[in-house]
Amino acid sequence: MTPRRCLALAVAAALPAACAPAPEPAAAGAPARLAETGLYADFAARTIDPANLPFAPQYPLWSDGATKRRWVRLPTGRTIDASDPDAWVFPTGTRFWKEFSLAGQPIETRYLERRADGSWLMATYAWTPDGDAVLAPERGIRAAARTAAGAPFDIPSRNDCRACHDSGCNVVLGFGALQLSSDRDPLAPHAEAPPPGAVDLDVLVARGLLVGLPAALVAQAPRIAARTPRERAALGYLHGNCAGCHNSHGPLASLGMSLTQPVAAEAEPAALRTTLGCASRFCTSGADTRIVAGDPHASVLFRRLAARDPLTQMPPLGSQVLDDDAIELIAAWIREDLLPVGAASAEPLTTFPRRSAMESQR
Ligand code: HEC
Ligand code: HEC
Repeated sequence: MTPRRCLALAVAAALPAACAPAPEPAAAGAPARLAETGLYADFAARTIDPANLPFAPQYPLWSDGATKRRWVRLPTGRTIDASDPDAWVFPTGTRFWKEFSLAGQPIETRYLERRADGSWLMATYAWTPDGDAVLAPERGIRAAARTAAGAPFDIPSRNDCRACHDSGCNVVLGFGALQLSSDRDPLAPHAEAPPPGAVDLDVLVARGLLVGLPAALVAQAPRIAARTPRERAALGYLHGNCAGCHNSHGPLASLGMSLTQPVAAEAEPAALRTTLGCASRFCTSGADTRIVAGDPHASVLFRRLAARDPLTQMPPLGSQVLDDDAIELIAAWIREDLLPVGAASAEPLTTFPRRSAMESQR
């Protein structure tokens, strides 16, 4: 079957108007040491300042098995404008931290801060063997550590931060209505239990920290509308891991492929409308259709998720180790859930071959 061409225009027309352009993220002006960013009440004792609120998005980014902790700090007395539930506006002075650890050792702590001109400062602090954490160079640090799988763990460059965080309406990717919903997806790959004292949507509302959140979302926590629990998790994974770049507003809008999940249910989710049976714009992976219902191996999206060579892999940066759980989830979703009801899949219902088998296929 010839794949159809899915046009960006059709996508854009069905979605809210373009977001307001924000000034370019700043690099200059980041404190030299993590200790000076306000994360800790006592850096030497590693005591987090109690004014910094921990949180855990329900669809986390795969980072080659690194464990993470995250905090947000709102300036005293200020609130988040949530009137567009898919694009929260944070007050000047808002700060976010995200700490990455491997084998229990912190490797880097990433930092975002909203500036008075509306821009976001982006910086990351590399942990040193003597227990300090200092501003990493603009180009990042290659092979700063090793993952459990033995692959090098790179501390990203400032441009890499921007590629993921500045390619759509939202610079902040894990702190929004869907990611913080109290109706958490039990099938989300690498789901993290919220840490003690974590804030979620309900807590933010109860504390009066959100202004303008649509009443429907206060009454009922958002969740992805899907035909099966597995589809919900698959769409959530694509939202959390891919939609920073693959949305209908940023530099990649002209691809005509949006993997974003808006909180309001769509008649046909963009993530399906712009992938299922849609012609691929690139042939790097050896297939021509983004998703072929029933056949993961003929689906460009799956092949690129299951690749880790620089030309093909998705995401293109921030990962060198395959996400086996996601590969299994997306394969099963494409193979079984996307077929019309009653149609049997050609393949038996086995789990997808793990890492070694995938590698040898390339
Ligand atoms: C491969 C894409 C990618 C790269 C590269 C990346 N991030 Fe992120 N980042 C994300 C996603 C997706 C989230 C939300 C999901 C999560 O936290 O697991 C996130 C979360 C964060 C958070 C918590 C606030 C939020 O947006 O949810 C901070 C702080 C952060 N990143 C800073 C940085 C900085 C600074 C850099 C560069 C040094 C960077 N990130 C590089 C994708 C990326
Ligand atoms: C840092 C930005 C970024 C992230 C994050 C990202 N991609 Fe991509 N993606 C790109 C770029 C740039 C292209 C176009 C160039 C190319 O094909 O490599 C692309 C192309 C694609 C294509 C081909 C589109 C077509 O027309 O067939 C697919 C499929 C894809 N990405 C899937 C994903 C999936 C799945 C994820 C998440 C697991 C993801 N991407 C995450 C930047 C990104």
